[in-house]
Amino acid sequence: MQVFHTGTEWQTNWLKSLQSGKTIGFVPTMGALHQGHLDLVKNSKKECDITVVSIFVNPTQFNNPEDFAKYPITLEQDLKKLEDEGTDFAFLPETLSIYPEKPVLTLNFGELEHVLEGEFRPGHFNGVGIVVSKLFHTIKPDKAFFGQKDLQQVAVIKRLVRDLSFNLELVVVPTRREVDGLAMSSRNLRLNPVERAQALILYWSLTKAKDELLAGKPWLDVRNQIRQDFKETSLARLEYFELVHPEHFTRFEAFEPDQKSSICVAAYLGSVRLIDNLPIIP
Ligand code: PAF
Repeated sequence: MQVFHTGTEWQTNWLKSLQSGKTIGFVPTMGALHQGHLDLVKNSKKECDITVVSIFVNPTQFNNPEDFAKYPITLEQDLKKLEDEGTDFAFLPETLSIYPEKPVLTLNFGELEHVLEGEFRPGHFNGVGIVVSKLFHTIKPDKAFFGQKDLQQVAVIKRLVRDLSFNLELVVVPTRREVDGLAMSSRNLRLNPVERAQALILYWSLTKAKDELLAGKPWLDVRNQIRQDFKETSLARLEYFELVHPEHFTRFEAFEPDQKSSICVAAYLGSVRLIDNLPIIP
């Protein structure tokens, strides 16, 4: 595996010599890699000739400074995992090479800014959009791979690709879960054993709500009961539990079996914020 640190290095040393019809798959990450990330790499390797993975903890997408300061960094293990997976290139940029100066441009993703992650993490999607645009411009991939766990991020990136005419295909890879159902996330590394056990309520509540909805219970009753369950049975502090359209993120007040829909949840375990989602009608 070749490691590079700047866009110039990639473009002059590698990209030019690769361009003879070879397809480039790109997996952007913030490191602390787990099996979910490696699934993205596997998919890229299956679908593309060359796979590039970036590791960059992007400061502009953190609306909470403590979350940024405590974001897990496991670079040595990450590189070993990527190497074992057969990754061709790892891109490890310095902050100054991505942000030689503070961007003045602000991206606004319309309605997506006002619900769920947009509502609770103001400015987050602007930071994601800016860094992903920079990474796409640098790597120039044919396909880019994102996890379904960050469902609203996928919707944002789809919009970004359409609105800015990036010439690439997005591939969305299903959420990888631990055997007990917890969605894999780099932030899981920050949970203490009690919080780790209590974090199961996220997946448990999603599956319970899905079963009840499909059995005909009205959505607002389902959601009220789940909010009660969080209060009465768990240390997890629920931030949102919503039924939405998985692309536009309009919130539904009732379940329509002929409408695409997903349930999305966010909750805090101590100071660690976790999100998850489950498609009801894909
Ligand atoms: O999903 C992530 O890890 C990040 O939001 C991304 C896409 C790498 C941008 O920093």
